[in-house]
Amino acid sequence: MTLIDAAPGLADVSVAETTIGDVRGDEGFYHYNRYPAPDLARSSTFERVWFLFVHGRLPEPAELDAFTARVRAERVVPQDLLALARTIGSTPGAHRPLVDLRTVLSATAQYLGMRPLWDCDEDTRRDDGIRLCAMVPTLLGAVHRAAHGLDPISPRDELDTAGHWLYAATGEVAGPDETRAIEQYLIATVEHGFNASTFTARVIASTGADMPSAICGAIGAFSGPLHGGAPDRALDALDAIVARGGQAMTAADAGDVARAWARDELSAGRRLMGFGHAVYRTRDPRSELLREVATRLGGRTADVAVEVERAVVDVLSAARPDRPRYANVEFYAGVVMDRCGLPREMFTPTFAVSRVVGWTANVLEQARDRHIIRPRATYVGPPVETSA
Ligand code: ACO
Repeated sequence: MTLIDAAPGLADVSVAETTIGDVRGDEGFYHYNRYPAPDLARSSTFERVWFLFVHGRLPEPAELDAFTARVRAERVVPQDLLALARTIGSTPGAHRPLVDLRTVLSATAQYLGMRPLWDCDEDTRRDDGIRLCAMVPTLLGAVHRAAHGLDPISPRDELDTAGHWLYAATGEVAGPDETRAIEQYLIATVEHGFNASTFTARVIASTGADMPSAICGAIGAFSGPLHGGAPDRALDALDAIVARGGQAMTAADAGDVARAWARDELSAGRRLMGFGHAVYRTRDPRSELLREVATRLGGRTADVAVEVERAVVDVLSAARPDRPRYANVEFYAGVVMDRCGLPREMFTPTFAVSRVVGWTANVLEQARDRHIIRPRATYVGPPVETSA
């Protein structure tokens, strides 16, 4: 058999067919099951988009009401699982909410009786997915609060997913502007093709394992800084630029300071967090949307960020004219989340609150295809020795 040599990182290799959505890197465009995602973020609610991922179509008003009521009920976590979340969150050590969530979710197969996908019908798989997604914000809030010696919040029935998340994470009910900003962020980040975490979830689903195993694997892949773990680092970079410019630095000065900073970082061989993308060869439509959200919310950080973005894109383009790189979703994500009162350690978890909906949709789609994903590798080690 002749093996096909795929490009490193499987770049530009299509490994499946999907109806969930598409990312067109050359056009700077992505959609969810035919609907341009930034349009949904501008005009829709998170629950309406979540329904689209579960059912493959947008809901009628009565269906949306029923779905919203269902996910509000399912966000209440059973006491034994909540107790586990509190134990994990309050365990001394390096506190990382996403890692704590992964640990807690790995117990859900037992606690909630979630069986292998291989042994479940479509309805059961879908129910498992909705339940996990609904519980994720509550569990993340619980581990985070436990790490700070606080009790978990009790979900408030009148809050939608974005409001519930802000409440679970901060203990405060956020205002409408902040809630809508986070809702737009959540909608814009539900799904994005066969990225590392989604692919991981699909590989696990292809083995017939249970839904929590697939989601735990996805969270592991997602937590790395080259994937979902960059928004706090991107905001750290903005802080470094502000520190370099000094307190008196105006937003207008920020461009020059950022240019010098970016050149120094590149010379030191470091990556500029919040810039570049594996698929987009032009502007990332998510960062365009989030710039809009950040500037609507206003504030000095947003003003500085706009200047920094321009300057860093110039420096990256000058360094590699053949491969310009632009701000990715993470660059403005941190600015928006910070402005909405989320602590830095909850930036990547916020991304997971939305992305888990995309992961579960991919798990459901993969589970319908009863083939295991099993690529090959080319051996390049020393020749075989028969006399070991
Ligand atoms: N800063 C400095 N150099 C960069 C950056 C960056 N932000 N992005 C890419 N490069 C370099 C690469 O190292 C590579 O150099 P090389 O050819 O000398 O090896 C070159 O530019 C080309 O890289 P690409 O093919 O454009 O990007 P790739 O697909 O390898 O990586 C990635 C994409 C991982 C996102 C990269 O751009 C990066 O590390 N960015 C910073 C981290 C970040 O923002 N992550 C969040 C991504 S968004 C998300 O996952 C939700």
